Amino acid sequence: MITQFIYGHPVETFAVTEKIPVADHEALRRFSRKKGTVQVFSCPLDEDAVIYGLGETMRGINKRGGRYISFNYDDPHHRDDMPSMYGSHNFFVVDGAETFGAFFDTPAKVTFDMDARGEGVLSVLCETQDLRLYVVEGESAYDVVKQFLGSIGRSFLPPLWAFGYGQSRWGYKTARDISRVAARHEEKSIPLDYICMDIDYMDRFIDFTVNRRRFPDMAGFAAGLKEKGLHLVPIVDAGIKIEPGNPVYDEGVREGYFCKNHEGTDFKAEVWPGMTHFPDFLQERVRRWFGDQYKVYTDCGLEGFWNDMNEPAIFSTEYRAKGTNPDAERGDPDQPERHIADFKDFFHRLDDGREKSNYEVHNLYGAMMTRASGEGLERLLDKRYLLFSRASCIGAHRYGGIWTGDNASTWEMLRQNVYHMPSLNMCGFLFSGADTGGFGGNCTRELLLRWLAVSVFTPLMRNHTAIFTRNQECYRFRDPQDFRTIISLRYRLLPYLYSEFMKAALRQDMFIKPLAFDFPGDGKARRIEDQLMVGESVMIAPVLEQGARGRIVYLPEPMTEVRYNREGFTCIDVGAGERTVMTPLNQVVFYIRKGKLVPVGREASNTSELDLLDVELLGSGTAYEQYVDDGYTRSCSLERCVIRRREDR
Ligand code: GLC
Repeated sequence: MITQFIYGHPVETFAVTEKIPVADHEALRRFSRKKGTVQVFSCPLDEDAVIYGLGETMRGINKRGGRYISFNYDDPHHRDDMPSMYGSHNFFVVDGAETFGAFFDTPAKVTFDMDARGEGVLSVLCETQDLRLYVVEGESAYDVVKQFLGSIGRSFLPPLWAFGYGQSRWGYKTARDISRVAARHEEKSIPLDYICMDIDYMDRFIDFTVNRRRFPDMAGFAAGLKEKGLHLVPIVDAGIKIEPGNPVYDEGVREGYFCKNHEGTDFKAEVWPGMTHFPDFLQERVRRWFGDQYKVYTDCGLEGFWNDMNEPAIFSTEYRAKGTNPDAERGDPDQPERHIADFKDFFHRLDDGREKSNYEVHNLYGAMMTRASGEGLERLLDKRYLLFSRASCIGAHRYGGIWTGDNASTWEMLRQNVYHMPSLNMCGFLFSGADTGGFGGNCTRELLLRWLAVSVFTPLMRNHTAIFTRNQECYRFRDPQDFRTIISLRYRLLPYLYSEFMKAALRQDMFIKPLAFDFPGDGKARRIEDQLMVGESVMIAPVLEQGARGRIVYLPEPMTEVRYNREGFTCIDVGAGERTVMTPLNQVVFYIRKGKLVPVGREASNTSELDLLDVELLGSGTAYEQYVDDGYTRSCSLERCVIRRREDR
């Protein structure tokens, strides 16, 4: 059961799509109080209570013991105690003597103190007195999450090719660079579905332009790649360069589409292209205009995009020169505070007529950019599109996926990728993933192989790195066939992964879960954070340590252990309990639950070669419900499921 409590006059966030009964918030008086301009909620926690959720936040799957701040922020130093990341996902579940969920539906800054002092108290501080609070009561943590997912609308549904392997690097500058990446993958028989184009494809980093010298014929280039089954995925940044004569800029100024400064003129902030204006995505008419601009790309045959710098990221502003950082000088430990003045300096005009500083509605900005693009692409294309964004909040999951921003080539970040996946799923972001191999720093061969073995199971599987790092394409390393083996597994598993993703999305369920959700009575499973359930049949237990030749795996029940290597699959039945499993770098081991099946297909060099129906079944079950479609048609429904039976048993 979900109950809604309304405080003051909340800003419309569009996060919840279902009609939820409203109760008098006086009923919560015991847990909530006004304090100046903020609203504080608190409740006691019993000793054993676990806290799930909060989407893109640091630390483990159990959020207890940490302090997290919802305030979208561009900071690549993803340390465990970093309070804010690029997305703000204000839903959590307490699983203890009492089990309940809470969603703080506000675009303002929210601080979640999840018993950081260890005194058995959870408290939430909202920097606004205008918000909606949804309280979800259920039988179990998983039940609470399912009810919540049912209230926020269905996940974005990407096309099949978006589940293929993607190669990216900030630094590919020309069509020739990209052709070379495609050719090297082909030469080494490494499967590939798309190549991302970072800011250098543009004319001086100006959105909705193409550098004609570097890409003389974008449409022809894209068509040529598509014939080989490859897609191009350009980046789009939030800010529009101030440059009279550029029709997008001119129209934006003329129509008043940009956010204003406190003097009432268009706010100026420096990002990649130099000084820019920020479109006021919170207005419907601006979203429509911005979404229509993607026609420049769709006219070239492009069907996939990544939206970036939309927290928004700001290098300097008309009021603050680069590098001046008053809060940092004061030694404020909460990094987002550094740019607080910037966000207080620019303003949105809401569709309800109110004016709000960006600081007050901050976490909606990136989400509304995603919505603008998603709705634009729905108008422009007659099929599903790929879209993933850096900034987000709950609600944006209906229009696009997300990636978890500028991580680094470290083992810690690989582990964090594992922790993020179930938490993001709980908040609606089924289509997500990290920069495989790491964005900052130099990736080693071993780290990339182990990271790929995790990414095989995440919906977004993209290798991306920064311009100043070592080349990170698989073919740059010794024995590229080892990389090929791991990526081939992704394609062989796609009949299962695609089916499970689509079923989860259509049923408004999770795709990747913590073990505790599937084995609720198992005390050990409840504490395990480095093993995950992927879909209804699979458990993964990836190797996350440098130098490790294997690891200890906990099996809550007897399962089928599947080992994949160059020769294919080998399955053995294993009992419940702990087990030491050796996994060489060029192999992947995963588990199939008792009584379940996994359909696996043949190898493919990209998804256009894949036949979702040509499968063999692994595991001990007798039947599997497989979702199958053409991979791009928009109308998706569970009626497309076919039952596959294990005839040889
Ligand atoms: C940001 C993005 C990163 C991209 C870079 C250049 O840091 O997060 O993915 O490569 O900008 O556009």
